[in-house]
Amino acid sequence: MNGLKDAVVLITGGGSGLGRALVERFLCEGARVAVLESSAARASSLRTDFGEEVEAIIGDVTVYADNARAVERTVARFGRLDTFIANAGVFDFFQALPQYEGDKLAAAFDELFAVNVKGGLLGARAALSELVKARGSIIFTISNAGFYPGGGGPLYTASKHALVGLVKQLAHELAPKVRVNGVAPGGMSTNLSGLRATGTAAQSLADVEGLDRMLRDVTPLQVSPKPKDYCGPYVLLASATDAGPITGAIINTDGGLGVRGIVNIRGGEAL
Ligand SMILES: NC(=O)c1ccc[n+]([C@@H]2O[C@H](COP(=O)([O-])OP(=O)(O)OC[C@H]3O[C@@H](n4cnc5c(N)ncnc54)[C@H](O)[C@@H]3O)[C@@H](O)[C@H]2O)c1
Repeated sequence: MNGLKDAVVLITGGGSGLGRALVERFLCEGARVAVLESSAARASSLRTDFGEEVEAIIGDVTVYADNARAVERTVARFGRLDTFIANAGVFDFFQALPQYEGDKLAAAFDELFAVNVKGGLLGARAALSELVKARGSIIFTISNAGFYPGGGGPLYTASKHALVGLVKQLAHELAPKVRVNGVAPGGMSTNLSGLRATGTAAQSLADVEGLDRMLRDVTPLQVSPKPKDYCGPYVLLASATDAGPITGAIINTDGGLGVRGIVNIRGGEAL
């Protein structure tokens, strides 16, 4: 038996991209899955595609009451909550500081941080008593932008660095009852969208031309992974059997960006 059979997982932003791949993967692992998703159309498509298998809750991670309702619905449906995955996010489309009109910067910051940082914190708070009961865990979706510059503009990079801090602080505070970890994926072609404050809310990362080629060019492993390729570490971290002693850890799944080196970004390609 694997460590996730009948475990209950709540995933934010599970209607698209990485979150949706996580829904499929956790179902394959035998887990029961709930999703908090702001897009009604995506929530409805989860119901169409997975039927009774998935509890899809429409709501906004930036609103505490929506997070609390998602936890209540998950527990009402499945009886417990073992893992909360704070995954919903928005992007700044690499917008550099000088490119912001000064009066738009504050609104852009508030909008991006509300989803990427506050959303995860509110969700963790809402899930806490159930996670304590289950001796469960929290997993934050971070990014290569949590470690290195240039994977976004200053707002996105700062928000993902903030999540690195949250993993450490919450792992410290919530031990020994709740484990807290992160996964830091590299790029992938998804619907990751922008901000109302900068007029990029309808834009999607999938529209960025040449993204796959660029990812293969910059990663030492020369990869442009799909969302499903990033799911394994979440399965590991969620498993009390396999990750019992792991807390405060972040698994970097970015094709080796941290080992690009200086002289040759691909380590010499000696083999
Ligand atoms: N795509 C990439 O290259 C990449 C790389 C590293 C990390 N990430 C991270 O992966 C996570 C998932 O992003 P994705 O690429 O799958 O994007 P995506 O847009 O395909 O999926 C994100 C989902 O979150 C939902 N969402 C957005 N705001 C929400 C809110 N306020 N409340 C509830 N749901 C909300 C969206 O409707 C969408 O369904 C994000 O945290 C992102 O920062 C993405």
